[in-house]
Formats: sequence, structure tokens, C-alpha cells
Amino acid sequence: MSFKGSSLPLALITGGANGIGLATARQLAKDGYDLFLIDKDQANLEVAVAELKQSGKKVESLALDLSDAVATEKAIIDLLKEIEVDALVNNAGLGFARTVAQTTLDEWDLTFAVNIRAQYLFCKHIVPQMIARGGGAIVNVASAGALVGLKNRVAYCSSKAAVVGLTRCIAADHAMEGIRINAIAPGTVDSTWIGRILADDPDPVARRKMMEARQLDGKMGTPEEVAYGIAFLLSKEGRFVNGSVFSMDAGLTAV
Ligand SMILES: NC(=O)c1ccc[n+]([C@@H]2O[C@H](COP(=O)([O-])OP(=O)(O)OC[C@H]3O[C@@H](n4cnc5c(N)ncnc54)[C@H](O)[C@@H]3O)[C@@H](O)[C@H]2O)c1
Repeated sequence: MSFKGSSLPLALITGGANGIGLATARQLAKDGYDLFLIDKDQANLEVAVAELKQSGKKVESLALDLSDAVATEKAIIDLLKEIEVDALVNNAGLGFARTVAQTTLDEWDLTFAVNIRAQYLFCKHIVPQMIARGGGAIVNVASAGALVGLKNRVAYCSSKAAVVGLTRCIAADHAMEGIRINAIAPGTVDSTWIGRILADDPDPVARRKMMEARQLDGKMGTPEEVAYGIAFLLSKEGRFVNGSVFSMDAGLTAV
């Protein structure tokens, strides 16, 4: 029992109000999970929760800015007094389009705060709870940019490479205690994020073509495709996958 009064497993998803996180919430509801969503985007979080409740699953949420480490750690500790987490999806993330010299200290710190420090905090507190209950599954959302250098993404790629290190070390330490943890490394995914990048570009058509061309078949992924990968990694069918970096990038990192 994960939510009091429910017999279903519970998945906690960060960044669940939009994009890949929301698609994952929809997939996991179909797969039989109750859901707890965390996001700083309160408006879309409320819309997501209302929609997901139509699945008949129990869905709760918390509006929280994960760049605030003190508030985040307190929220996690308080939450774990109320819920037991069977599946954790560390998905919230952000990025800036900058070279190393262009990246400000604030941009670097914010990128690392959300993309990796928040993942560490959720793992730090949820892994012991999972171990005490016999185990659990975690997916940390990384990026193809963890595996190859992308132009103008220096803080983003660095933080996503750290996600891979966090994931592998937790697998090494806790596999024997029933923890399965994997990183997923998507290529370019047509999410709300990409929509924002295109909207800000003086030539969105050319930019979209450039982004599409990075995948070997010339097409972006969809949030739903990545959600399916995350759901597989969390499922019992994914038992033999641990400490991996699961690429879903239409070959972006293959050549
Ligand atoms: N879209 C892509 O091409 C792509 C590729 C590889 C990896 N990813 C990764 O996938 C994950 C999801 O990205 P997406 O494409 O769905 O983007 P998105 O912008 O559509 O969704 C990201 C979500 O994270 C939330 N978030 C951001 N900062 C937050 C903070 N400080 N506190 C709480 N919530 C915060 C946002 O509100 C949003 O709901 C990210 O970790 C991203 O790095 C995306």
C-alpha cells in the first residue's frame, strides 16, 4: 500500500506537469500506478492532475521549485511520512543555450540544482524507504547530451553526465537490496521545451530541421515514446536492466 487506503503501487514523478513527465504519468496510470506529481508549474500541474484523475487512479501533487534545496529536502522528508514510493521518475530539468564562456555562474548553479542535485535529494531519501520495503525502481532522466557533447549546451550536458554517474553508483551500492535504477538518455523530443526553443528562435523552421536531422531517421521523438521507455525500465519485465544508460535517440549517439 503506497497511498493510504490504496492497494496500487505509487509512482512519484518530478516535472510531471508537462512534456515527458506528463506523458509518463499518463502511461503509468494506464500501467496501474497511483501517481504523485511534483512541479513548479502550478497551473499546468492542476490541469494534469484533473486529467489524470479521470483514469480512476489516485493522483496527488505538490507545487515545488526544485532549485530550492532546503525546501525540496524538507518537502521530501514530510511527504515520505505520508506516502510510500514504489517507482521514482526524476524527470524535472532545464537547460541554457550557452558555450562555457557565455555560461554565468547563476545559470551553471541553477542547471545543476534542478538537473542533478534534486535527483540526488529524491534518491537520498527514497532509496532507504524503498530498501526498508523490499525494493523499488527508479528512472533518472538524463539526455543524449550526457553521452556526447552538444554545441551550446555546456552546463546542461555536464549536469546530465552527472546523472549517469549518480545512477550507476546507486545501482552499484544497492542492487542487492532490491533497488533497480537506470538513466534514460533521450535524443531530441518534441516536448513543450522544444516548443519554447523554437518559439524563441529567429528562424524556427531552420532550427526545427537542424534538430530533426540529429536523429538518424530525421525525426524527433515524442514524449509518449520516452514515457514508454521509462515505463519499461520501471516494470517487472525490466528486471535485468540495472545501472544502465538507456538510449532512446533514433541513433543520435550511434554515429
Ligand atoms: N525534450 C528533449 O528534447 C529532451 C531530450 C533529452 C532529455 N530531456 C530531459 O527530459 C526531461 C523533461 O524535459 P521535457 O522535454 O519534458 O521538458 P518540459 O520543459 O516540457 O518539462 C520539464 C518540466 O520540469 C519542470 N521543472 C523545470 N524546472 C523545475 C524546477 N526548478 N522545479 C520543479 N519543476 C521544474 C517544468 O515546469 C516542466 O513541467 C528533462 O530532464 C530534460 O532534460 C529532454
